[in-house]
Amino acid sequence: MKSLAAIAALLSPTLVRAATPDEWKAQSIYFMLTDRFARTDNSTTAPCDTTAGKYCGGTWRGIINNLDYIQDMGFTAIWITPVTAQWDDDVDAADATSYHGYWQKDLYSLNSKFGTADDLKALADALHARGMLLMVDVVANHFGYGGSHSEVDYSIFNPLNSQDYFHPFCLIEDYDNQEEVEQCWLADTPTTLPDVDTTNPQVRTFFNDWIKSLVANYSIDGLRVDTVKHVEKDFWPDFNEAAGVYAVGEVFNGDPAYTCPYQEVLDGVLNYPIYYPALDAFKSVGGNLGGLAQAITTVQESCKDSNLLGNFLENHDIARFASYTDDLALAKNGLAFIILSDGIPIIYAGQEQHYAGDHDPTNREAVWLSGYNTDAELYQFIKKANGIRNLAISQNPEFTSSKTKVIYQDDSTLAINRGGVVTVLSNEGASGGDRTVSIPGTGFEAGTELTDVISCKTVTAGDSGAVDVPLSGGLPSVLYPSSQLAKSGLCASA
Ligand SMILES: *[C@@H]1O[C@H](CO)[C@@H](O)[C@H](O)[C@H]1NC(C)=O
Ligand SMILES: *[C@@H]1O[C@H](CO)[C@@H](O)[C@H](O)[C@H]1NC(C)=O
Repeated sequence: MKSLAAIAALLSPTLVRAATPDEWKAQSIYFMLTDRFARTDNSTTAPCDTTAGKYCGGTWRGIINNLDYIQDMGFTAIWITPVTAQWDDDVDAADATSYHGYWQKDLYSLNSKFGTADDLKALADALHARGMLLMVDVVANHFGYGGSHSEVDYSIFNPLNSQDYFHPFCLIEDYDNQEEVEQCWLADTPTTLPDVDTTNPQVRTFFNDWIKSLVANYSIDGLRVDTVKHVEKDFWPDFNEAAGVYAVGEVFNGDPAYTCPYQEVLDGVLNYPIYYPALDAFKSVGGNLGGLAQAITTVQESCKDSNLLGNFLENHDIARFASYTDDLALAKNGLAFIILSDGIPIIYAGQEQHYAGDHDPTNREAVWLSGYNTDAELYQFIKKANGIRNLAISQNPEFTSSKTKVIYQDDSTLAINRGGVVTVLSNEGASGGDRTVSIPGTGFEAGTELTDVISCKTVTAGDSGAVDVPLSGGLPSVLYPSSQLAKSGLCASA
């Protein structure tokens, strides 16, 4: 399925595409650290010691070479880490390096380790030619500098080339003090993070002009915005508007009362309020499904639009799911939930290979070390879950605006219906036996034959849409009318 913006791009390659929030609701995002995904020479054996914190050689050309791997898993968009030039671009830093991209010095130059302007444009073009979208990570909260706060040479920063554009030094110590969170610095020595004075009108103009031209120059379709809670809220509406594309902000806090208000100033936020309950539900056998059911409602009530939130179970700042449990059935339930409930799914590169790094930096493993194995069990599972989501979106215009309803819950089962896709989740893990659970009120008409796209078994809806769903081995069941699977490729219907 090609998006409208993708078709427009084919007709007019120079058009600024400006993918809207509504368009993003239909996407599924694969997120990678550019440095850790793929190399220009396609080598898959090159070592990458995550604990060393050095560049490992991934590039934008490398991503282009491996778009089949991403698209065949059912993704329609990618999010890449920041593209701007870093303080240590041209030095060999002793401690660690800016391979992640969050230590910028020049908004108007690119990180040469990842490629040239032509390479980045070629990445956008290659994505658009496939009907896929490009999301780029951006930082407005801070710059980066090797040394302590007293050693910063502000003249190397562009365009914020003076200390006047930054807050005076103080380190954030009390994360409950919002003023401190916004005005003090995130880190100091060996790399210090000068905190931009985003209240300065000149600084705001710099950022708004910059984001507008960055989006235009590289045909960017959406933004992931770093460290949003560290900048005062009233900075963001103009920035989002200047960008002219969907922006999803990182507000690293699981409390919906804290995080959801940021959706009043940016199109979306990363769904930390669902992340923690989802982790609690699936990271161990017998996890808390009731808490997750409750969180679904709380987030829907607290956030402006739950379908514009970015859903995830892993990213580069938190422990990977497989570091809690190597149980593949639990991993599949977590993935099914993230992909088939409200919001835009975001899968972190390596999750499909069941990588198990437990914190930064060990959770930043190079994906090439997996050999891009498309037979991997979770690769195939994600392909199915994205596949049914993409199918439902193409068949039901209401899908992307529909909200998840909890239709059944007991100690080991949670059943949800979003837009006519019924997902029955289990917390039993791979040692769970065979059982049948009666799910009432699925919304399917009596007599409708349904296929569980995970097991490919069929069941028939009974009176009032009640369905007896067989579960086995702790796997989730994802039910959809069999007649609507024709030609989808799901369950050999092709
Ligand atoms: C890397 O892979 C791409 C895409 O398959 C191919 O076009 C390119 O020639 C390869 N590069 C090398 C150095 O093998
Ligand atoms: C975008 O391109 C214009 C024209 O070449 C240039 O002046 C501007 O600095 C570029 N902006 C960015 C963010 O690279």
